[in-house]
Amino acid sequence: HVYTDYFFNESAYDYHDGGYVPLEKHDAPESKLNIPELLKPDKVEGNDVWYTVEAQTGETQILPGEPTKTWGYNQSLLGKTIIYEDGKNYHVTLKNSLPELTTYHWHGLDVSGPYIDGGCHAPVYPGEAKEIEFPIHQPAATTWLHAHPCPLTGWDVWHGLACAVVVKDQHEATLPLPRNYGVDDIPVILQDRRFDEHNQWNYDDDYDPDGTAGPTALINGTVNPYFDVTTQKLRLRFLDGSNRREWRLHLSDDMVMTQIASDGGLLPEPVYLTKLMMTCAERTEVVLDFGKYKPGDEVTLYSDDTPILKFKIHEFAKDDTEIPDHLADVEYPDPDKDSLVHQVVMSGTDEEVQINGKKFGMMRIDDRQELGKSEYWDITNTNDCCGGMIHPYHSHGGQFMVVSRNGKAPYPNERGYKDTIGVNAGETVRVKMKFNLPGVFMYHCHIIEHEDGGMMAQLQVYTKDDPHKKYKLMDMKTL
Ligand code: C2O
Ligand code: CU
Ligand code: CU
Repeated sequence: HVYTDYFFNESAYDYHDGGYVPLEKHDAPESKLNIPELLKPDKVEGNDVWYTVEAQTGETQILPGEPTKTWGYNQSLLGKTIIYEDGKNYHVTLKNSLPELTTYHWHGLDVSGPYIDGGCHAPVYPGEAKEIEFPIHQPAATTWLHAHPCPLTGWDVWHGLACAVVVKDQHEATLPLPRNYGVDDIPVILQDRRFDEHNQWNYDDDYDPDGTAGPTALINGTVNPYFDVTTQKLRLRFLDGSNRREWRLHLSDDMVMTQIASDGGLLPEPVYLTKLMMTCAERTEVVLDFGKYKPGDEVTLYSDDTPILKFKIHEFAKDDTEIPDHLADVEYPDPDKDSLVHQVVMSGTDEEVQINGKKFGMMRIDDRQELGKSEYWDITNTNDCCGGMIHPYHSHGGQFMVVSRNGKAPYPNERGYKDTIGVNAGETVRVKMKFNLPGVFMYHCHIIEHEDGGMMAQLQVYTKDDPHKKYKLMDMKTL
């Protein structure tokens, strides 16, 4: 079965928003899609791997003419792709060479909070470095790293502080899937910006409390990109790294995309679709099969009606390996019958955004859950006036499973692990969530200006033997 329509409710798409910035094709010439290099470890010793992630300023030649002032991790814009392997131990030096404080948040990694997780309670000051250490225990997935200094996450990410973080495991490695990085397995980071007449980005001018957007698609930091296809099968790891934009992806000829993974890893079985909508911070892995194309052909990826990435087909060896009908065992414990249901009500727009009637308080713990226990969370979006808007809800601290949308079955492509979920206007999405590590974790709307504006809260995941452990939390005022 091939799904030929988006799963979300059209009435709440971002283009109905009064402040919507439509995508437009920039008049810059096409250029080769930037494929971030893999970050090289500083050292490997048995099961232990050392990395350095340096946040830095720089200049990037994105358009002809003046270079754009940008920020990145270990490079001038975005960052080198980081690989983590399930079962290994990592030591990561977080170095801040920016002129201001930042944090390093591992979005989608199962690490403890709030310091290793890297939300706003884990600042690294300019000129300083700090080492964190953590084991990786989770399935293969496309996760990401981005800055998270509240309330300046939007500012940092807009400047370029985001990159792909790929988790590998032994199960995924046995499947017949493309995994030759840069050749048949590539990250596709979807962002949008506005360039001024000097090719610069001006966050404050473009700022919108309902989410900052620009008219030019920026794919892995490239404007009008093309990718040379040299294999029959190509795996794309889409990451919506935009502050605000929803991406409605489809290909020329309505080419079918085989979705194999969502945020937290492989789906139980592949989902075939021609239209894929992604909300902020979601990840989707799809495989494209160019079997019926020949050298010289082109296939174009669109968001709505704007071309955003071109695939130029070259000679390739025939590859008729089939994607298995069963990709992974996706299991999640059910909550006890009598356990409480956590409530998250996202309301308001612009400056009025809130969760459960409150704005984010850095020193306030809004909810609590016991370590290792699965519980339901009901995520409600009350913005149903006039079509409303979709809020992409994200929880730090691991992956959840979607149970239902307004009591109905989840979308076909959300039967895998998720850490971010688009919630339609007037909808309650029920998820079950279990935290595997203790700490303080944030949960919020991932329209970044909503999270910065206060549509965010935090919970303490506690252990039975120290249920009221005190964590040093960062006061917003000390920023
Ligand atoms: Cu992408 Cu608080 O997270
Ligand atoms: Cu996160
Ligand atoms: Cu929101």
